Amino acid sequence: MKFYNDIIDLVGKTPLVRINTLSKQRGIKAQIFAKMESLNPGYSVKDRIGISMIEYAEKEGTLKPGGTIIEATSGNTGIGLAIAAATKGYKCIFVLTEKVSFEKTRYLKALGADVVVCPAAAKAGTPDHYVETARRIHRETPNSFYPDQYSHPANPLAHYQTTGPELWEDTDGKITHFVSGIGTGGTISGTGRYLKEKDPSIQIIGADPYGSIFKTYKESGHVPEATPYLVEGIGQCAPTENADMKVIDRIINVTDRDSFELARQLGRVEGIFCGGSTGTNFAAALEVANGLDENAVVVFIVCDTGEHYLTKFHSDEWMKEKLLLEPQRITAGLIAETKRKTVEEDLIYADPDEIVRDALRKMHEASVTQIPVLKERRSVGSLKESNVLAKLLEDKSLLDSKVSEVMDESFPVMDVDASFDEIKASLRKAPAVLIEDFKRITSIITRTDLLDLQS
Ligand SMILES: Cc1ncc(COP(=O)(O)O)c(C=O)c1O
Repeated sequence: MKFYNDIIDLVGKTPLVRINTLSKQRGIKAQIFAKMESLNPGYSVKDRIGISMIEYAEKEGTLKPGGTIIEATSGNTGIGLAIAAATKGYKCIFVLTEKVSFEKTRYLKALGADVVVCPAAAKAGTPDHYVETARRIHRETPNSFYPDQYSHPANPLAHYQTTGPELWEDTDGKITHFVSGIGTGGTISGTGRYLKEKDPSIQIIGADPYGSIFKTYKESGHVPEATPYLVEGIGQCAPTENADMKVIDRIINVTDRDSFELARQLGRVEGIFCGGSTGTNFAAALEVANGLDENAVVVFIVCDTGEHYLTKFHSDEWMKEKLLLEPQRITAGLIAETKRKTVEEDLIYADPDEIVRDALRKMHEASVTQIPVLKERRSVGSLKESNVLAKLLEDKSLLDSKVSEVMDESFPVMDVDASFDEIKASLRKAPAVLIEDFKRITSIITRTDLLDLQS
């Protein structure tokens, strides 16, 4: 029989996958490889430290049978710990910030853990901060173990003992650059230390979101004020014990927009479905690889799966709300959908046989100045308040006539899949466009809607 003793036997030994099209498109000569940590049983790089911190604590005697594991986590460490804890019979309580995706919170609960959510805006060191909250729960819970991934030696050790050797062996010692995000710093410090011992010329590159402190801290020793960013799991507002700046040669800042766009491209173009911090790493890997020759071997970490972010940056609606979606992916249907969510209106229109007075009342009530005229949901004309009023000034009796007698020509009709640029071009000529889905008019997009979108 061929089988594994338990699920933790599947942690590690993740494969390297070559990046093809996205490299070629940029004229990159160096080979770029993705280290597929998303293929771990908990779908992230953190499975490695979940098991190593637990086994270290068991040996030390800090974790005893029936104990409770308490940790502050952006989700993935919790998943790694919960998987190991489930197989070994420990309870888990995880403290997260509200920035952590809904999917990860659900996932932790599915693995049997209790979850406490803290405000994302709480400053480090204050009682509401998620790390302080985890420490307090640890103090108040008998027979509990607080690994503290930010300082626990088994965090970088797991990478020193596994990730580093795997990269060295799988590249036949040819790796020249290693790129990783810095959350606790465990991945980059442990892997980096191993690789530097093998060959000190290997470059260890940190990928850091704009807003995090690591780049400035590495370059000047000064800790700047952190500012918010959307990528999860990497970057910090204060240095951590496990982020060893001596091992890191260079840190590259990456924007949320580039991180998410490149993470999405990895899925669309290479079939590698990943989280946002992988996009940060890939952006830094591309920057490093640009200009290197074909002998260079650049490896970046695929930290976790895109599955955790389906309601976040893998959703077009979310990206548009955050003003992060590139215009060419914004379609008429998407604009209409977001508008409906915010305005909560159904399409207001007039029937050609309706009386003008009633149609005008409807427009006043809805505070709109132009509406389509539809017959069986197909466009037959439009009513523009200023034009109708001009006609009424000439002949007031038109108030009691049919809409069809005073209406103007129809607004242009566009398909739901029409692009942002096509809609913009139409709106240069007409004040509004109608959106058609399966031959039925479903919404209207006005010049103001487009301006709102770009603001
Ligand atoms: C999604 C994600 N990427 C990257 C990291 C960073 O890894 P490390 O803590 O080893 O620096 C984390 C850490 O929590 C993470 O959750």
